[in-house]
Amino acid sequence: MTKPLLNLEKTEQLRSHAAQTEHPRELIVDVLRAIQEENGWVPDEGIELAASILGLSPLQVEEVATFYDKIFRHPVGKKVIHVCDSICCWSRGGEWIVQILREKLGIDLGETTSDGEFTLLPTCCLGACGEAPAMMIGFTLYGNLDAEKIEAILAKERSGGRP
Ligand code: FES
Repeated sequence: MTKPLLNLEKTEQLRSHAAQTEHPRELIVDVLRAIQEENGWVPDEGIELAASILGLSPLQVEEVATFYDKIFRHPVGKKVIHVCDSICCWSRGGEWIVQILREKLGIDLGETTSDGEFTLLPTCCLGACGEAPAMMIGFTLYGNLDAEKIEAILAKERSGGRP
């Protein structure tokens, strides 16, 4: 038997929340995040499940899923590195930071390391322009990046976040 995309308790909790919400569309990201937390990413069946929980069409859910770059529609590594490619980071060496990450991880943007640990993705402004160049791993923001700092961050993240 295949594992459900979302456990029954969570599904019912979200369904009941949606039923009490005037605009269930506001919950699309929450439902997609719940599905992603259990599966690592959101397959097509996850879009259909979210639509059925919220009483929306799969297209309405898909529109949000593809717009929001923290929802993954393809399998990703255990940790996703979002490296900022917006103007402040770009003007402060963002391209060089991407190059360092590509070399250290041995992958290109959009790819996952062979050990399944990291996926490297470009992202728009992370709201940390004052600390540009910046990247985010999971929910942790890292700024003022340079080669040395990236080396230390990757080592820490590889060891499960322990310093
Ligand atoms: S431009 Fe990179 S954090 Fe804002």
